[in-house]
Amino acid sequence: MERTLIIAKPDAVQRGLVGEIILRLERKGLKLIGLKMASLDEAMLRIHYAEHTEKPFYAGLEEFMKSSPVVLMAWEGYQCVESIRILVGSTNPRQAASGTIRGDLAIGTGRNLIHASDSKDSGETEVANFFDDDELFSYDKSEYMHIYEGNERE
Ligand code: RTP
Ligand code: MG
Repeated sequence: MERTLIIAKPDAVQRGLVGEIILRLERKGLKLIGLKMASLDEAMLRIHYAEHTEKPFYAGLEEFMKSSPVVLMAWEGYQCVESIRILVGSTNPRQAASGTIRGDLAIGTGRNLIHASDSKDSGETEVANFFDDDELFSYDKSEYMHIYEGNERE
């Protein structure tokens, strides 16, 4: 099963939208396998946002991400990276589709509530960067037979 790292960013924590974000992912049928609160420091952010550190928006992004604690989540599901990116919506919330987290709940690109891994490989890497093995949980979800068909749930 694929894994995705979700970060409920400082704006989600400050605006009391962490529960709403979890609710939307849970209702999709995805499995929550890790959950914790953390304050991210410069070193962690430079690793997490390595592809962006030279971009003009990086300084503001780093400052914002350090401005309050975040909630880190690891989610698991069949092809979940793509389905979560669709639920999250476009980076610019003003262009994000209605019904998505960003489309429904945010306006500013730098205040778009949530990070979601953008590929199967980045999902694996990012979950491993933020969670130790003993912080991730393997368990059967009893509703799977009503969410997946056949080999999708293996
Ligand atoms: P994310 O990584 O947070 O899930 O979002 P994303 O893939 O949709 O966006 P990405 O291009 O990876 O950018 C990471 C975060 O940087 C901020 N950003 N600001 N001002 C700007 O032009 C700009 N562009 C990106 C956003 O907070 C974005 O989520
Ligand atoms: Mg990204």
